[in-house]
Amino acid sequence: MMRIILLGLPGAGKGTQAQFLMDRFKIPQISTGDMLRAEIKSGTALGNEAKKFMDAGNLVPDHLVTAMTKHRITQPDCINGFIIDGFPRTIAQAEALRIAAIDIDFVVEIEVADDEILRRMSGRRIHPGSGRSYHIQFNPPKAAGRDDLTGEPLIQRLDDNEETVKRRIANYHSLTKPLVNYYLGWAASGDKRAPRYVNVYGRGTVEHIRDKIIAALVQRH
Ligand code: AP5
Repeated sequence: MMRIILLGLPGAGKGTQAQFLMDRFKIPQISTGDMLRAEIKSGTALGNEAKKFMDAGNLVPDHLVTAMTKHRITQPDCINGFIIDGFPRTIAQAEALRIAAIDIDFVVEIEVADDEILRRMSGRRIHPGSGRSYHIQFNPPKAAGRDDLTGEPLIQRLDDNEETVKRRIANYHSLTKPLVNYYLGWAASGDKRAPRYVNVYGRGTVEHIRDKIIAALVQRH
């Protein structure tokens, strides 16, 4: 069983590292951002509601994201674990997991400075079907502008413009970063249900960061 939460600024590399962890541990990635973008594409009520928050770089209200994520975790492919990328993002969301008795083995924080994030976002390219993410310079696809697995075209995300990224960074610091102390405090309490906390410095090659995360998980599992 390997249940992981990935924590980090927008662009810290959560989605990139989730792909490696999926392969290594044979567990699915649950990306709340990808799920919300799929709802928007399908034109559902949830998608229409979420879109106005996402386009502005703000968080979608807790109750909407929490219900969606809790439902996803109950699916059969999560029986041996999962990687949640993008949830929780507020203390209220973390409390909702705890109250629902959804246990987590590891919280992995990928730590990157704000100025590095702005550099990364301008070069990010996404495969909309899968959410796979590339960078034109730091993590390029095998063929320019094309997804490695499907060959389909890559796009730039609408919320990757500089102004929106700055808003997302500010929201991270005020609403999501407090989760670090939340999980550290829980682990220090001695509660057996508390997840183990792993902090990884997120600058370096994607492979180097992958190796650091996997080594920490394997060693402490
Ligand atoms: P979401 O889609 O989750 O976006 P995010 O958290 O802002 O994270 P990103 O996907 O932008 O970044 P990432 O850390 O996955 O980085 P990546 O690996 O792509 O959420 C979007 C929106 O949905 C939110 O703003 C919010 O509105 C809403 N939402 C989602 N969840 C919510 C929740 N729980 N509650 C409320 N609202 C919610 O890497 C970034 C780039 O850097 C790529 O180009 C990559 O190739 C490159 N890169 C990666 N690693 C490295 C490296 N080591 N060196 C150089 N470049 C690198």
